[in-house]
Amino acid sequence: MRLVLLGPPGAGKGTQAKEISKRMSIPHISTGDMFRQAIKEGTELGKQAEAYLKEGRLVPDTITIGLIQERLTMPDTHNGFLLDGFPRTKPQAEALDRWLDGQGANIDYVLNIEVPREQILIRLTGRRICKGCGATYHVQYNPPQNSGICDFCGEKLSQRPDDTETVVSHRLDVYVEQTSLLVKYYREKGILKEIDGSHDIPEVTQAIGMALGSDWR
Ligand code: AP5
Ligand code: MG
Ligand code: ZN
Repeated sequence: MRLVLLGPPGAGKGTQAKEISKRMSIPHISTGDMFRQAIKEGTELGKQAEAYLKEGRLVPDTITIGLIQERLTMPDTHNGFLLDGFPRTKPQAEALDRWLDGQGANIDYVLNIEVPREQILIRLTGRRICKGCGATYHVQYNPPQNSGICDFCGEKLSQRPDDTETVVSHRLDVYVEQTSLLVKYYREKGILKEIDGSHDIPEVTQAIGMALGSDWR
């Protein structure tokens, strides 16, 4: 199964992706996570992407499309994949379609997770991440067992540098201007599934399961 997760910053894409990927045994591919990893490692890609992430601007399409195409040639994607945060622009969506078409493949479903703006701000300002293992928490909605400490690896939790109010507001604007038009793009293809992301985490997972029907395991 080849899936795409669409939705504004803080909609819960990463949170739901972890569960879907586990249940369906398909790799979770997040361009945001790939950029953050590259920045942490100080690679050439990291140096190119750093300023964009810091300011909440989109990394140029040429870089992002190249990165995803390279990732999708890896053998673990042969039985499917779950894209989180890609595509984000029309050229990215078209490049993905062309590339899959060349392999005789296609996207099965696009899950559009919708959450009202007020809720997004609460989710992002309360988000805490573990730099050690990448786990995501929320101080109120998904807290770790010991405050400020990762349940899985014991590292201290921190805030994502782009989760400040100013950068979040810019990321939301970028979403409205550049990414939200993909909802129409995929709706017209007949593969869009609308998911109400405003409920608690297990309820949203359940809604995704219902949307995927018999394909959900
Ligand atoms: P990216 O990392 O993709 O960030 P984003 O799209 O802004 O989304 P987030 O990761 O912030 O939110 P999420 O939906 O994953 O929410 P989460 O599950 O964590 O991109 C970052 C940057 O990289 C971009 O700004 C850009 O610069 C660059 N980039 C990435 N992809 C690119 C591309 N294709 N092209 C160009 N540039 C690109 O949940 C958020 C919080 O809410 C957590 O604390 C969680 O615990 C909590 N939560 C989740 N679900 C619920 C729920 N149902 N109820 C209550 N709380 C919940
Ligand atoms: Mg995410
Ligand atoms: Zn950890």
